[in-house]
Amino acid sequence: MTELGSDTRTKIAIREVCKTFETKKGRVVVLDQVDLDVRSGEFLAIVGPSGCGKSTLLNCMAGFEPITSGSIRIDGVEVDAPSRKRVFVFQEPGILPWFSVWDNIGFGLGKMPFEQKHEIVMRYIRLVGLDGFEKSFPSELSGGMKQRVEFARALAVQPDVLYLDEPFGALDALTRLEMRAEILRIWGETRKTCILVTHDVEEAVELADRVAVMTPRPATVHSVLDNDLPRPRSADQREFRALKDRVFEILGVRRG
Ligand SMILES: Nc1ncnc2c1ncn2[C@@H]1O[C@H](COP(=O)(O)OP(=O)(O)OP(=O)(O)O)[C@@H](O)[C@H]1O
Ligand SMILES: [Mg+2]
Repeated sequence: MTELGSDTRTKIAIREVCKTFETKKGRVVVLDQVDLDVRSGEFLAIVGPSGCGKSTLLNCMAGFEPITSGSIRIDGVEVDAPSRKRVFVFQEPGILPWFSVWDNIGFGLGKMPFEQKHEIVMRYIRLVGLDGFEKSFPSELSGGMKQRVEFARALAVQPDVLYLDEPFGALDALTRLEMRAEILRIWGETRKTCILVTHDVEEAVELADRVAVMTPRPATVHSVLDNDLPRPRSADQREFRALKDRVFEILGVRRG
């Protein structure tokens, strides 16, 4: 387990967070005493059983959902609302179908002189490898390309935390592999703090510096596993398989 409260590199400090939803059928306790530190500039993956509360935790960290008790601080400041400094990349790209690639990326930048906006938009179009497609509309792009627009849109506002909730979920298997490599390249170039929620344990082990494993609902963080394997990582490596097996073991999944 990561020691809490003593690390100067802490970007996000989550302490004893509980989250309940009041529904017509009664109260649903989703998060129960979640403690987690996210370090500045790290790539953290969160895995857990389906429905345990991963998206809820991410929504609370991003300020979209209020927590019931406990605290979530980013750079020492309590999170109480969404912020442009912390952006979400959704599973289904949130890009607007009637806007071109350029307009989709420029949209979030708000009002600024055209030259300045163009410079920023083109920088991020190049970063995600979409040069030449700036005038295209989403309907003219593949799933992977739409996901690239989504990343560019998110990065262009220069957030310091990127929340990724199953961002590759809607992509086919090959495109998923390609986009995993792309997100690593982009993360390497920008060094944003990245928090990835995924149900894919292999994806978590391939990408993350640390893997937080959650328990079934009401969920808490069972353990945070360090992953120091050098990149690029291969699922064939013995250490890779060992870490994957350890995550499955914590999740209570018997394999082989
Ligand atoms: N707005 C809401 N109102 C009531 N219950 C909710 C709400 N949002 C989530 N829940 C409940 O909280 C629990 C956790 O949901 P959440 O979407 O966070 O899980 P998850 O781990 O992301 O699941 P998945 O792996 O399927 O994406 C579920 O039981 C869900 O029904
Ligand atoms: Mg979810």
